Amino acid sequence: MPEQAVKLGPRLAAVAAHVPDGAFLGDIGTDHALLPIYLVLRGVIPSAIGTDIRGGPLDAGRRNIARRGLSGRIALRQGDGLAPFRGGEADAVTVAGMGGGLMLEILDPRREALAGARTLILQPQGGESGLRRALLARNWRLAAEELTEEKGRIYTVMRWERGAATDQPGTPSAAAADGGCADAAVRRFPEVWAEYGPLLPAAGGPLFRRVLQAERGRMRRAAAALGSATGAAARERLGELRRRAEIWEEMESWLYPSD
Ligand SMILES: C[S@@+](CC[C@H](N)C(=O)[O-])C[C@H]1O[C@@H](n2cnc3c(N)ncnc32)[C@H](O)[C@@H]1O
Repeated sequence: MPEQAVKLGPRLAAVAAHVPDGAFLGDIGTDHALLPIYLVLRGVIPSAIGTDIRGGPLDAGRRNIARRGLSGRIALRQGDGLAPFRGGEADAVTVAGMGGGLMLEILDPRREALAGARTLILQPQGGESGLRRALLARNWRLAAEELTEEKGRIYTVMRWERGAATDQPGTPSAAAADGGCADAAVRRFPEVWAEYGPLLPAAGGPLFRRVLQAERGRMRRAAAALGSATGAAARERLGELRRRAEIWEEMESWLYPSD
């Protein structure tokens, strides 16, 4: 009798929640293959292809798949990023647990396999602001972004759809729908929007507050380390850090006014 249930932690569960019903999924860096197994078992998707650059994780993934009787529905292929896919095989692509820079290399727009993808669900570990900027410039639209916490660490999960930059929610041009509220805030705190993208600052929430506070902590520590420096470059850097810390603090008071 095949073993069935798979329980995902909050990080991968948040990724899974963004996968469209019925998608032809490609899971890059699938490792243990728990994400495609979970989605197929729940009936969200009919089948999936997982890839990993290393053979060891794929062996473990194959055992996990076989234990659940899913070998006919989830295929695993070894290779770099999207290389093991043929064009059009995946209309939704998940990439979780890798740095944003590596994700950008994997999602190189010249790759034929990316042409059929309509949705990307990404859970980067670092390099988030560069990843957002680059994908917006490549005409992907950030349809949703949320923060989730696992074992005390905060992760971001992004869902990207094909689209034009002018459709992008959370930017001044798209803000008319919310009475211009986000519009005013984007103009008032452009640095914060540049750092966290078009959606997270507008959504707020307790995890985003912790992200803002953690960043202020980093700025304070960097400023303290420069405190006694006398060179012109260090003083300029110190001024910039203090200016940014004030902006972050003001943004926090603006978003969480009652505390
Ligand atoms: C930290 S694990 C994340 C596993 C799973 N996606 C998750 O989020 O729990 C990263 C996996 O990505 C794989 N990987 C790293 N670079 C890759 C690449 N260029 N192409 C495919 N897989 C890669 C690693 O071998 C590893 O199994």
